[in-house]
Amino acid sequence: MDINRRILVTGGCGFIGANFVRLLLREYPDWRVINLDKLTYAGNLQNLEGIEENDQYRFVKADICDAAAMDKLFVDEQIDSVVHFAAESHVDRSITGPAAFIQTNIVGTFTLLEAARKTWLNNSWKGNDPRFLHVSTDEVYGSLGDTGMFTETTPFDPRSPYSASKASSDHLVNAYFHTYGLPVVITNCSNNYGPYQFPEKLIPLVFHNSMNGKPLPIYGDGKYVRDWLYVEDHCEAIVEVLTKGKNGLSYNIGGNNEKQNLEVVTRICDTLDAKIGMPKSGNPRKELVIFVKDRPGHDRRYAIDASFIKDQLGWEPKVTFAAGIEKTVDWYLANQDWVASVVDGSYQKYYETMYG
Ligand code: NAD
Ligand code: DAU
Repeated sequence: MDINRRILVTGGCGFIGANFVRLLLREYPDWRVINLDKLTYAGNLQNLEGIEENDQYRFVKADICDAAAMDKLFVDEQIDSVVHFAAESHVDRSITGPAAFIQTNIVGTFTLLEAARKTWLNNSWKGNDPRFLHVSTDEVYGSLGDTGMFTETTPFDPRSPYSASKASSDHLVNAYFHTYGLPVVITNCSNNYGPYQFPEKLIPLVFHNSMNGKPLPIYGDGKYVRDWLYVEDHCEAIVEVLTKGKNGLSYNIGGNNEKQNLEVVTRICDTLDAKIGMPKSGNPRKELVIFVKDRPGHDRRYAIDASFIKDQLGWEPKVTFAAGIEKTVDWYLANQDWVASVVDGSYQKYYETMYG
């Protein structure tokens, strides 16, 4: 089969990246997919279990900050498309240890942009029209009050080391468009949920703790609001932006699902009670909720206005919150071995098993 696109997916062993790689291999058999991942604590090769290396797919263990390795990979694989997920992604970790966020999210993005610039803007480039898609977050816009929504023109106002590092990377990507004419697009999306999410994030954490009779820690008053987006909807939106988006633009991607944290936690507990019955204690799982000290600088509310991507590219989310939570709880119930291996750390040995 002729290869029509040669795509570098960075961070393809993480939560969203793995869902994205699976989507590409399922739906786009004529694309060659190079999955580059450093396999940090958040990178799990088991997320891609069952996927073999072949003409369509290759895994490369590397750091996006390694300039020589990035330059060589772009040339060796004649990469014509980048979907850049690789990042340090957890806000709480950015508060206790910001250095890795600055390194990967800012220096790493810069290193990839340089590799793309050297390869694509060189007169000898003979490949397809190239495209660099940078995956960013709604957190760059800061925090909302009770009303209003983030649009693509909302000024940046990041408030955590994580969101500041992502905002910096967005600025760099835009600078490469304006200064060098690098063909770039940016996506800013809301909170994802679904299969393969690391159980440090709210939804899988609540699943794991409530299955094990552990407390469910709610930061502050639990009335913080996030706009929840089912991960497969997000991955489909990324393909739309990659293939049809306009260079130099940003596209907001949201789920139209604003919920308070306490409501999310209660919904997961009630869904579990209904699906597998009450725990041994006989008490509903939601009684495991405890209110704990708030996250420093905790953003009160995020809400995405996703009308631009709908108007321009025809994309809108398909999965309602009710359906998404059902699917997610079903997936975690069916994949408790996966959760256990992430929690006990044994997933980190999987690389040696696969690659020696
Ligand atoms: P994740 O933490 O689950 O995965 C990150 C992946 O990047 C891991 O596989 C990790 O090994 C890899 N990685 C980290 N540092 C690396 C480096 N230096 N070199 C190569 N690989 C490296 O993250 P996620 O939740 O899948 O998020 C993916 C992207 O989407 C991130 O850029 C994040 O900022 C953005 N985002 C996430 C959400 C969300 O709700 N999860 C929402 C908006 C935007
Ligand atoms: O908005 C997009 C962002 O969503 C992404 O850019 C980030 O990469 C991703 O991690 C996510 O950030 P959040 O901080 O919103 O996600 P998290 O799951 O950590 O927290 C969701 C909400 O739940 C938030 O208001 C904090 C709260 N929370 C979280 C945890 C882990 C709790 O109340 N208790 C918890 O134990």
